[in-house]
Amino acid sequence: MIITGATIITGVFGYPVRHSLSPVFQNAAFQYRHLNWVYVPFEISPEYLKDAVRAIKIFSVKGINVTIPHKKEVIKYLDVLDEEVKLLGVANTIVNEDGCLKGYSTDGEGFLRSLKEDGGFTPENKLVFLFGSGGSSFAIAGALVRAGISGLIICNRTIEKAAVLKNHLKDCFSFQNIEVIPFEKRDNAGIWKNIDLVVNTTSVGMKDDDIVLVDEKNLNDNMFIYDIVYNRETPLILSAKKKGVRCLDGLSMLVFQGAVSFTLWTKIEAPIEVMKKSLIAYKKTMQKGNQN
Ligand code: ATR
Repeated sequence: MIITGATIITGVFGYPVRHSLSPVFQNAAFQYRHLNWVYVPFEISPEYLKDAVRAIKIFSVKGINVTIPHKKEVIKYLDVLDEEVKLLGVANTIVNEDGCLKGYSTDGEGFLRSLKEDGGFTPENKLVFLFGSGGSSFAIAGALVRAGISGLIICNRTIEKAAVLKNHLKDCFSFQNIEVIPFEKRDNAGIWKNIDLVVNTTSVGMKDDDIVLVDEKNLNDNMFIYDIVYNRETPLILSAKKKGVRCLDGLSMLVFQGAVSFTLWTKIEAPIEVMKKSLIAYKKTMQKGNQN
């Protein structure tokens, strides 16, 4: 890649940001499409977020992804908010249109495209079991409801937050078929036999000593398991693979939400396969590095 005077800058605001994989696949996509664009990490501590957003205009940065912990706070400083952002109260993508900063959320669309295009799963008329009620769950549950699921069971460690998500979905989409179940009762066998899709939007499974989210005996061949954790194969994904249950991990959603951002910035279709391959190659390099 050659940086010239005309290179267009994009990047990600996070704190911390060192772990971000987005620079890997966004730069691979720019290169593949022969765009003189670059994607760089910006580690922005919360007290500088407002100044950093102003700097997007000052430096004519074209696009920014926003990640933890700024997704909520950032919307205060944007000029225009997409409808999805207004609904969710969070933004993960900023587009600088001639000095006007527009906020978008690409998680919902990214999740749905990943589920359909990588998973081959159509959510219409399906019964969904959703773990979690944090930021990601709002975008994902909203996307699933809009895609026409028949019902939703929400299960979260803090049950009050599950109730907030339920009410949000009822208010925004007039979707009524939602049940909340307590986290301790998640292995209740009666619930599982009719479930079509299980989605984990929590961070459970990221660490070695994490609890088991679903008892293996509750998984069956008719299900699809989607775990948004992407740093490793979680026990949920390992159980699914062991039992021959169709599944997908968070790397797919990571690429698709990034692909939606790429298109918002460039107005060009994102090269999904190139983006995925760049991540796989990067992970292999990292593994080799760790072995040496
Ligand atoms: P994100 O924006 O990625 O969704 P978040 O808003 O912090 O992140 O949400 C994290 C989710 O993981 C929440 O649903 C959280 O449950 P609580 O609402 O009870 O906090 C869930 N989570 C995190 N650690 C967990 C654990 N050890 N056991 C069960 N759920 C956990």
